[in-house]
Amino acid sequence: MDERIRFGVLGCSSVARRRTMPAIAACPQATLSAVASRDPEKAKAFAAEFGGAATGYAELLERDDVDAVYLPLPTALHGLWGARVLAAGKHLLVEKPATTDAEGTRALVRAATTADRLLRENFTFAHHPQHATVARLVADGRIGHLRTFTGEFCFPPLPDGDIRYVPRLGGGSLLDAGVYPLRAAQLLLGDDLRVVGGALRMDPRRGVDVAGQALLVSADGVFASAQFGFQHAYGSRYTLWGSSGRIVVDRAFTPAATWSPVLRIEQQDRVEELTLPPGHQFLGAVASFAGAVLAGRTARHPEEQAGLASMVRTAELVDAVRRTAV
Ligand SMILES: NC(=O)c1ccc[n+]([C@@H]2O[C@H](COP(=O)([O-])OP(=O)(O)OC[C@H]3O[C@@H](n4cnc5c(N)ncnc54)[C@H](OP(=O)(O)O)[C@@H]3O)[C@@H](O)[C@H]2O)c1
Repeated sequence: MDERIRFGVLGCSSVARRRTMPAIAACPQATLSAVASRDPEKAKAFAAEFGGAATGYAELLERDDVDAVYLPLPTALHGLWGARVLAAGKHLLVEKPATTDAEGTRALVRAATTADRLLRENFTFAHHPQHATVARLVADGRIGHLRTFTGEFCFPPLPDGDIRYVPRLGGGSLLDAGVYPLRAAQLLLGDDLRVVGGALRMDPRRGVDVAGQALLVSADGVFASAQFGFQHAYGSRYTLWGSSGRIVVDRAFTPAATWSPVLRIEQQDRVEELTLPPGHQFLGAVASFAGAVLAGRTARHPEEQAGLASMVRTAELVDAVRRTAV
């Protein structure tokens, strides 16, 4: 294989245009072969901007010059098209959340394992080095014994017609925004979290949840809460609260590549602010995926299996919030 992974992008979406396609262009281990849209004119416009051939969805999967597919379709279409990508023998980088529920996510994992291809969910925040620094501070005892994790990801209402307001496309704030604090809690407290309560605010006109909150408990008895929604001023942060202090991470989930993170460590008698170098989490996610494909990794690799188990766990937590929430 060439030293670069040849990507096809299936769906000319907003996040592809703003974040992932520039990251593919910036990644030395990746190149763009083709972009697919339902609308040929849209595919041509994307290809003119980012390179690659303009094509349709099914045609993209037949191309010999595509090793891996980046899939930023509406969430409810991830399972169907993800399975087609894998059956076509391509590796799959699927946008978060992998599918709309645990059953669908398990099916996608089985498809990747059968096809012996790499499958990753594009939670880019996990590729920002700031979270490893936070984990180290906690392990070093900077806030004492960890008691509580609180994660928030909220933003103002979206334009009418946005996919996030359409139930049959996998809309709703739990699937779109709530998965971030849930996954961050898994990252910092472990996968063995249990949902013990929650609330979802439904928009009766649209039939999707537009805000929510979930309460969880870790295997070690650490409490976690997740707040999310499309009804608040922008907020993207988490706090780890221990027996002797607190760490606050602002812009935790979607920092710009130029943002220098400031970790705020609050203790009884002082506050310290640690300014970290910027991190390009979309480039990190693409580079990590491409590097794994180049290294011959697939869903059968033990570390990938662990990552896929976390992905399924997130989907199970989402299901549990739905079941539990008032
Ligand atoms: N990782 C991140 O930071 C991040 C950020 C934002 C979104 N996301 C995820 O990325 C996915 C897409 O989000 P987005 O904001 O980019 O959405 P979007 O701009 O609405 O794009 C979705 C694309 O899917 C295609 N599509 C196929 N069938 C469709 C249908 N029936 N209705 C609407 N679009 C359809 C369209 O592409 P064509 O017209 O070209 O066929 C459309 O451009 C979601 O799963 C979301 O959760 C991830």
